[in-house]
Amino acid sequence: MTEGRIFSGMRPSGRLHLGNYFGALSNWVALQSQFAQCFFAVADVHALTTLQGTDQVAEIKPNTHEMVLDWLAAGMDPEHSVLFVQSQVPEVLVLNSLLSMSTPLGWLMRVPTFKEKVRQMGADEEHIPYGLVGYPVLQTADVILYKADRVPVGKDQVPHIEIMREIARRFNHLYGETFPEPQAMLTETPLIAGTDGAAKMSKSLDNQIELAAGPEETNKRIKRMVTDPQRQRKTDPGRPEVCNVYALHKIFNPDKLDDIYHGCVTAGIGCVDDKQTLADGINTYLSEFRERRLEFAAKPSYVDEVLADGAARAGAVARETIREVYDKMGLS
Ligand code: TRP
Repeated sequence: MTEGRIFSGMRPSGRLHLGNYFGALSNWVALQSQFAQCFFAVADVHALTTLQGTDQVAEIKPNTHEMVLDWLAAGMDPEHSVLFVQSQVPEVLVLNSLLSMSTPLGWLMRVPTFKEKVRQMGADEEHIPYGLVGYPVLQTADVILYKADRVPVGKDQVPHIEIMREIARRFNHLYGETFPEPQAMLTETPLIAGTDGAAKMSKSLDNQIELAAGPEETNKRIKRMVTDPQRQRKTDPGRPEVCNVYALHKIFNPDKLDDIYHGCVTAGIGCVDDKQTLADGINTYLSEFRERRLEFAAKPSYVDEVLADGAARAGAVARETIREVYDKMGLS
């Protein structure tokens, strides 16, 4: 086992899709057997930066449940890793508040994900929630509350990790060595394109294949996939290198790749059959996952028990850190 402590989180987005799996979850599962100490949180407070009011917030709970079922079915081991819901260890809010006192606003306003979010919301600055500006501060509190030093994330999160290091360094400089400076662990992952053939797979674009979907739903979605736009008729030769279906064959049908490539460029295989081969590959790949997920889902309180146990274990570490922070800051 490697020295060091892992922390990562996901906002409660509900059922995960193939992009989430290859982008993050499969890596989390692998890290558990490498690192003795692993913390993984459902970032429900972060979700509140873009959800407001009873109706919107009501989605968090079922989304958490569905997502954690996916975690467990994928092989997250709750005996080894600490799996918990961010808000259930309220010490993170204390640390967030204290860190916010020494974080320059300029650092936060320059974060690219913040600028992007403001653009997406079409909001003027006057109406941006204060908490949204502070998103990276809360994320810093998440990680350093547990004194984690490695943060497995995708490329999009790199600016957040950089700011996290600055915030931790600043605290150490102001109050004495307390926190490790967390390091990003970038995951080498294939970019999973959405079924629309355009952007990456994402729930908001409705171009996703859910891990938990049944074979029928998967077949239906794969049938709709966009292939090589220049291949209009079955007799036209295809170009696997520009085809999303082929990109997914690389993952789900690695041992059939040569035949598929040949069949496509010689117009020997049509797109309809080719897609069926892909859907079969995906369904085979996910069959054990889906079985396990059904087993976990059949035990109604299992997820709650896992998360309660996780919150208790995380809480013990968190209280220790807050005590030390109070001490260092002269608040005790
Ligand atoms: N911001 C991350 C995302 O949107 C989720 C997250 C919350 C996180 N807290 C974290 C990731 C701490 C790493 C570490 O994907």
